Amino acid sequence: MSHNLLQGKKGIIFGALNDQSIAWKVAQQCFAQGAEIVLTNAPIALRMGEINKLSQECNNAPVIPADVTSNDELKNLLEKSMEHFGGKIDFILHSVGMSINMRKNNPYTALNHEFTHKSLDISAMSLHRLLQLAYNMDAIKDWGSVVALTYIAAQRVFPDYSEMADAKALLENISRSFGYHYGIRNKVRVNTVSQSPTRTTAGSGVKGFDGFINFAEKMSPLGNANAEDCANYCVTLFSDLTKYVTMQNLFHDGGFSFTGVTKEIIEQMEK
Ligand SMILES: NC(=O)c1ccc[n+]([C@@H]2O[C@H](COP(=O)([O-])OP(=O)(O)OC[C@H]3O[C@@H](n4cnc5c(N)ncnc54)[C@H](O)[C@@H]3O)[C@@H](O)[C@H]2O)c1
Repeated sequence: MSHNLLQGKKGIIFGALNDQSIAWKVAQQCFAQGAEIVLTNAPIALRMGEINKLSQECNNAPVIPADVTSNDELKNLLEKSMEHFGGKIDFILHSVGMSINMRKNNPYTALNHEFTHKSLDISAMSLHRLLQLAYNMDAIKDWGSVVALTYIAAQRVFPDYSEMADAKALLENISRSFGYHYGIRNKVRVNTVSQSPTRTTAGSGVKGFDGFINFAEKMSPLGNANAEDCANYCVTLFSDLTKYVTMQNLFHDGGFSFTGVTKEIIEQMEK
């Protein structure tokens, strides 16, 4: 249902790879709530062509390629987006993650640090790069909002989440640190949303994902939050209803983060 929460707002959505992607649902929901959007992803991801379907659904939203490890491509994205919008940007979703070591099945105790460097660059430092460029170009409107997606492995150990846990810890800290500076200068807010395990291309790449998602389901009083509900939550953070929320890591996980144990888990252990 649309409440036009984002009427007149203009935003950039990173990371819609296919219709399973959390960013895909966020783009749909932002559009449904009245926003104008620009879509972006790494050039290699765009070659699959799926994003064109999403673009059409969202009033032919422009699709502008940008690898988040490239300053030049991100600068071009911000410039072209402002040209398209005819002004500054109201909101940005950073929904980007990639672990080369996970792809290569390297466990945490046997990381290839060249790969780790790349994983941290893509998954965490990219948020700093993006915010720094936006800050220096004065690309985000006062009271604008930036949200990056993260996972609770930044706070607690999930062994198979491997180097991505370190990447998410850095991502969350960048959002706090840059949130301070952007808040002081432009009242721009920067938050991370810590989402339940979700069946997507990136999510399913984590070893033992099926066990993992089922465990989280049983450990969450409300059950796992799905991608559509994550999108709804992001919309509230882009809207003017959350103007004083910044520098926060916000759990969107059905209560998982504050649950010690549940009846279901105890019953299972007693079997
Ligand atoms: N799926 C989950 O269980 C889960 C849980 C919590 C948080 N998250 C986070 O949500 C975000 C989105 O992931 P998703 O689950 O929707 O999976 P996804 O695979 O659909 O999205 C990941 C996106 O990152 C993009 N990407 C990778 N390298 C890039 C680069 N160099 N430049 C630009 N884009 C690049 C991919 O093309 C893809 O679109 C990620 O940050 C992920 O860590 C996912």
